Amino acid sequence: MGVSYCPKRKIFHLQAGEMSYVIKIYHQAYLSHLYWGKRIKDVNESNQLQFKYRLFSPQPEGFDRTFSLDTLPQEYPANNTDFRTPAYQVQFSDGSAVTDLKYKHFHIYKGKRKLTGLPATYIEEEEEATSIDFTLMDNQTGLQAILTYSTYEQSNVITRSVRFINHGDNPVSILKAMSASVDFRESEFDLLTLYGAHANECNLSRKRLTAGSHLIESRRGASSHQHNPFMCLAKPDTNEEYGEVYGFSLVYSGNFIAQAEVDQYETTRLSIGINPFNFSWHLGSGEIFQTPEVVMVYSYKGFSDMSRTYHELYRFRLARGQYRDCLRPVLLNNWEATYFKFNSDKLLLLAQEGKDLGIELFVLDDGWFGKRNNTKTSLGDWSVNKQKLPGGLKKLAEQINRLGMNFGLWFEPEMVSMESDLYRNHPDWCIQVPNRPKSLGRHQLVLDLTRVEVCEYIIESVSNVLLSAPISYVKWDMNRHMTEVGSLALPLERQRETGHRYILGLYYILEVLTTRHPTVLFESCSGGGGRYDPGMLFYMPQVWTSDNTDAISRLKIQHGTSLVYPPVTMGAHVSASPNHQVHRHTSLNMRGHVAMSGNLGYELDFSKLSQLEKKMIKDQISLYKEIRSIIQFGTYYRLLSPFAGNQAAWQFVSQDLSETVVMYFRMMAQSAEPFRILRLRGLNPEKEYLDKHTSLIYGGDELMYAGLSIPEMKGDYCSMFWRLAFEGYEKINNIEF
Ligand code: DGJ
Repeated sequence: MGVSYCPKRKIFHLQAGEMSYVIKIYHQAYLSHLYWGKRIKDVNESNQLQFKYRLFSPQPEGFDRTFSLDTLPQEYPANNTDFRTPAYQVQFSDGSAVTDLKYKHFHIYKGKRKLTGLPATYIEEEEEATSIDFTLMDNQTGLQAILTYSTYEQSNVITRSVRFINHGDNPVSILKAMSASVDFRESEFDLLTLYGAHANECNLSRKRLTAGSHLIESRRGASSHQHNPFMCLAKPDTNEEYGEVYGFSLVYSGNFIAQAEVDQYETTRLSIGINPFNFSWHLGSGEIFQTPEVVMVYSYKGFSDMSRTYHELYRFRLARGQYRDCLRPVLLNNWEATYFKFNSDKLLLLAQEGKDLGIELFVLDDGWFGKRNNTKTSLGDWSVNKQKLPGGLKKLAEQINRLGMNFGLWFEPEMVSMESDLYRNHPDWCIQVPNRPKSLGRHQLVLDLTRVEVCEYIIESVSNVLLSAPISYVKWDMNRHMTEVGSLALPLERQRETGHRYILGLYYILEVLTTRHPTVLFESCSGGGGRYDPGMLFYMPQVWTSDNTDAISRLKIQHGTSLVYPPVTMGAHVSASPNHQVHRHTSLNMRGHVAMSGNLGYELDFSKLSQLEKKMIKDQISLYKEIRSIIQFGTYYRLLSPFAGNQAAWQFVSQDLSETVVMYFRMMAQSAEPFRILRLRGLNPEKEYLDKHTSLIYGGDELMYAGLSIPEMKGDYCSMFWRLAFEGYEKINNIEF
């Protein structure tokens, strides 16, 4: 296992879990890609590369005409003599942009190094991973690139990243630096991506690759609602349970690009990394540039297995802090209940109702600071609005605590309102280009996190609030994208570094704040899932999945999100009916089931509910407390896709397989509806499971192979819930937050 080198064949064999990844050095200079797929014992080159003269594919000087980089499968291709998408491009002080990074040496080591200033997956014991660094050098200029690969011993995961070092005397400009590029010697693939919009995140796109380039990207300054930084190639016959899948997930929260290019000889090059759009990096002599990490997952057991690999890695080796392994609290958020119209009496009334129903955490959303009564004002002025909260945050939080709940608070620290003291005092502190008008989004501007003083201001102002009251949770929001991208603090040649430097500044802030406040549970949000990416998960173990709280819309959003991200990371709230975003009426039952499929919360005015509704919510919360260890820390299976038709279903199985929770959703009522069966997954076929509702007993084998009959349902928007466990099994999982 790990990484081995065969000097005779000049072959590196990387093994991770059940997969192999093979690299060969050609002509002492070129790292070429030989294989990535199901694990093989030894590499004897049964699939050796074939060389053939191809007119219009040039040769590097001194090589015979059958050798061309234009046809060689490579690990980190340059933009010279290979006409396919390059992995990098660097401009030198003489204006030229031709490079020839050649392999020099390698270094294999146990463990996995941290990336300076960037989030990345980690290990807890050195034995968990083996890494290899390949050093490449451009002799003429002194430019060096170190390609790092880390293989996880127990899972089908290889991570990659690249470090550029300028050993030359003159500065260079990095114009493009992908985190990874992989050449597949075939093109029979489907391409899967997650696309969407605000309040409509993570739709699933699946299409057949054809000749040419297929790309997704963000140019918005954030990973975005529009495209998640994830791409997956799958064999056309792949489904949830079966087939080969190659996943690429970028641990980054800013502009990214992921591209699959099918070339003239039906090979596929997949590359992923920081978007070269509006980017360049001035690398002075002796300086280093580090790319983000990409997490590459392989499975021959379909999408479900790929997702579980990501889920496990992101739960336990990406998320950090004390909440990584803790059950998450059931919360009540006042946003959709009050919007900006609240005062402490109203909040306390809401909180009291919440407490009676079983809520554990009360979250005060937007509107508690400055003169914030609408979206036009006060971002940046993080002092409490005494008109709304005369006793301040401390008094309110203590009152909430006395009711027996924790208190949480909303911030949007990366932004500034033009109508604020912060902007009046520091108009130069926002992202801008001199002499150009500043566009507004939601009436606000983006603070310039490339400036240290701005980062320190954010750290201190958020910290001071956190120290001023017993606050145990923070919702960290971000509600606009970047325009007129530039920084008044950066020199001319560094203006195109603004986007990436912003993200580095953000990561610095988050590192300091989460370290300084280790007992606070941080939830990230960007108008919902606008920055639902592994970079943010490194600092904050949960995310507000979408501003769309409609249960029917959420089926697709949560299903799509689960392709990469585990349910424990998904904030899911029951809100009012009709829903505030799409005005749909759905039953409380259905809303409860959808929200119980992630981190359950409520976001509606409890005082407007009937006694019956309150009783139903109380029951939902107590049920959720019984099952949440399975939802949050069990294994997740997608059973039916809402993208495929009128139904959706998913299943959660406890780690010891002793208990399972199943949810089925039927969207529209249908006449002459077929009788349907739902086949479960991941159970112990040898064991008997008791249906806790009917007290009927079924074998795990029967549930998985014969399935469960879905009872008749009446009307639109219906849901079903099953909870089955080994007979006589009682688990103590009600650990308090
Ligand atoms: C956008 C968030 O996604 C909402 O949940 C809410 O916090 C608002 N911002 C508040 O302005």
